[in-house]
Amino acid sequence: MTLARQHQIQVVAHRGASEEAPEHTLAAYKKAVDDGADALECDVRLTADGHLVCVHDRRVNRTSNGRGAVSALELSDLAALDFGSWKRHHDEAVEGEGPDWEGSAGADTSVLTLERLLELVAESNASGRQVRLAIETKHPTRWAGQVEERLLLLLKRFGLDAPPSEGASPVRVMSFSARSLHRVRAASPTLPTVYLMQFVSPRHRDGRLPPGVRIAGPALRIVRNHPGYVAKLKRAGHQVHVWTVNEPEDVELCAELGVDAIITNRPRQVLTQLDRL
Ligand code: G3P
Ligand code: CA
Repeated sequence: MTLARQHQIQVVAHRGASEEAPEHTLAAYKKAVDDGADALECDVRLTADGHLVCVHDRRVNRTSNGRGAVSALELSDLAALDFGSWKRHHDEAVEGEGPDWEGSAGADTSVLTLERLLELVAESNASGRQVRLAIETKHPTRWAGQVEERLLLLLKRFGLDAPPSEGASPVRVMSFSARSLHRVRAASPTLPTVYLMQFVSPRHRDGRLPPGVRIAGPALRIVRNHPGYVAKLKRAGHQVHVWTVNEPEDVELCAELGVDAIITNRPRQVLTQLDRL
């Protein structure tokens, strides 16, 4: 793809290599690293006993063999669940065969803490395989700052809370909540933040984002319906990270528009299309 070669698009594995392995499990993130993803995306929620775990939905019903809200369960409750069986059943029903990820080394499908994911990123970077982490705070307003507080404490333990500059940071924090990003920036001004958008609200129509935010995270539907908006964001000085881009024609569109990152469930396929593998 000629256009894609003109600039390096970061390929971000959405919930890990989540098309092939169960989302938000170590199995999915190890696969994404092995596949060559530049970065890993994860959602974080607080458990009842204050641990940050990587789970997308408010409840664990869809992605585990348990039931209940993450916020009402303790880490030990979550540790007793299997976050891979739903995907095994889905793959067998849809594709008629067992999944590839299951037999692979490190096919861990227990609940993933953010701490363990940060360890994986650190291990990977120490071994010379550079990978970044994009952490999304889910429903942060409900917790009045606790999600960001725990997140920053954890990042501090890994020496990642105060990078010398935004560009040098292996971690960035994403949210649909401007307030959540504001809290992060107030505590850690050089940590990059990404403002996620489901739609373009009137106050951001001209390409400006909440104060201090340098990266825009528009949904793919915004880019499809208003391709000129990417140029507007870039003219306003922002990087553009688009989610969730899985189809080849959408990868092509994003490359043509010069986006900076593609967030995808299929990192290997996207890297192949961008002539990176
Ligand atoms: O990367 C941003 C994207 O993940 C936001 O949507 O629902 O997949 O968390 P969602
Ligand atoms: Ca997310």
